[in-house]
Amino acid sequence: MTTAHVLKAEHLTLGYGDRLVVDDLDLVVPAGLVTVIVGANASGKSTLLKALARLLAPKSGRVVLDGDDLQRTSSKEVAKVLGLLPQSPIAPDGIEVSDLVARGRNPHRGLLSRWTPEDEAAVATALDQNAVSQLDGSTALALEAETLEMLRVLLGLPSEFSGVFVSGATMSNFVGLALAREWAGRRRGVRVGDEVIDPSTAPVVFAGSAHSSISKALSMLGLGRSSLRPVPLLPSREAMDTARLAGLLADQSHPCVVVASAGTVNTGDFDDIDEIAELRASHDFWLHIDAAFGAFASVSPATAQLLAGWRQADSICVDLHKWLNVPYDSAVCFTRRRDLQLDVFANNADYLSQPGHDPEPIHLAPENSHRWRALPAWFSLTAYGADGQREIVERNCRLARELGAGIEKSSDYELLAPVRLNIVCFSPAGGSAGGAANGGASVAEVAAIVNAIGDGGRTFVTPTALFGRPAIRAAFSNWRTTEADLDVVWSALSAAAG
Ligand SMILES: Cc1ncc(COP(=O)(O)O)c(C=O)c1O
Repeated sequence: MTTAHVLKAEHLTLGYGDRLVVDDLDLVVPAGLVTVIVGANASGKSTLLKALARLLAPKSGRVVLDGDDLQRTSSKEVAKVLGLLPQSPIAPDGIEVSDLVARGRNPHRGLLSRWTPEDEAAVATALDQNAVSQLDGSTALALEAETLEMLRVLLGLPSEFSGVFVSGATMSNFVGLALAREWAGRRRGVRVGDEVIDPSTAPVVFAGSAHSSISKALSMLGLGRSSLRPVPLLPSREAMDTARLAGLLADQSHPCVVVASAGTVNTGDFDDIDEIAELRASHDFWLHIDAAFGAFASVSPATAQLLAGWRQADSICVDLHKWLNVPYDSAVCFTRRRDLQLDVFANNADYLSQPGHDPEPIHLAPENSHRWRALPAWFSLTAYGADGQREIVERNCRLARELGAGIEKSSDYELLAPVRLNIVCFSPAGGSAGGAANGGASVAEVAAIVNAIGDGGRTFVTPTALFGRPAIRAAFSNWRTTEADLDVVWSALSAAAG
């Protein structure tokens, strides 16, 4: 059953030259449901929204939530009441952005209407709240903290983990590896955050099929791309051979870093994280997991096993603009080592909050000012709930499996890897005599097919290479993709094979 909150605005007078914006608004709001104010241009909609979100103090009157005057309730409490992760989806009752805009322009139709998740980016942009500090009295950071907590609960990570918002998985991997660098330095008596990096104390980084952002992050961190040492893979897999990793770790006399993949880009393969984590009994290493999209495997019992052991990680990268379906740019880095996070990212200035016991995100991540990324994520989490997010993941995976099964039967295409999650990796069957050295179509042939598939503008696949073989990948992560879209994909594939 959905809990309801009662939100009242009593004789509320806000900015815009003391214009009375709302008088005696009385709303019953199901938990997690956000209400948006629609009215004529310059009628004070965003001002009222800000007041409701406690971004602005009213000149007179008050906003009351469940009997408590919002002005006297702390930001954290407000966010807590509004920000609990619901189990079931809170059904958006569907107004489209265009409808919203149209109503917003029509003074005669000014009314309160429910909000749809699709409109989330517009609000974050319209509010233009810099989620940088509580010094301005806003709820932005409180909501950010609650959203990170909801996400942690959704993903089933233990409470020792805390998260921080960043712009994407590349920056999330950067944060995880920056912490790893600090940790490895400490092990050797160096405070990397305070001292010049000494190449002789830089850790070696092991990975199987690391995403390109890992070597980019190593370059940005001054560790160098050459510190990345490839671990041999299991036969026909993108997952590393853990026994070979154990051998490589045994040859190291200093603390190392292991980057495990939870969802590779080409085939959605997973390293055996449980086995890797067990190696810590005999080897000293920081375990970072790139779970940019694979983290969402945890929301369904059908796929959660792929992540077995991931709770033992030191840092985890999760992208939100992938499977949480929020607008770009949004990702999180989770870690159990907030202490190291402060050592790396503390941003000391008299005009900012001090790091202290409960540090604000400016002391925990590379960025200072940043968009209020938490708001769209909060919308997605509350609008769909845990059940809704599971349904999206399961539907995407089912459609990927169906496409994979169809390709296996097709004479035009060849499936190159089992569909483990949401990615289908395939190539045109056969190929010319001058094609790829190890059989199959050439790079040019694959590029031509990829272009042909995308030509109608309704289907988008990307070219790649799997074990050196030119290939095509189709990834399913959109919340709107349904069976009907598979028909569209099939007609594009058939026409391209033509
Ligand atoms: C596994 C993995 N890691 C990292 C990234 C980089 O993500 P972003 O573009 O959000 O930086 C991606 C993007 O596809 C990815 O799939």
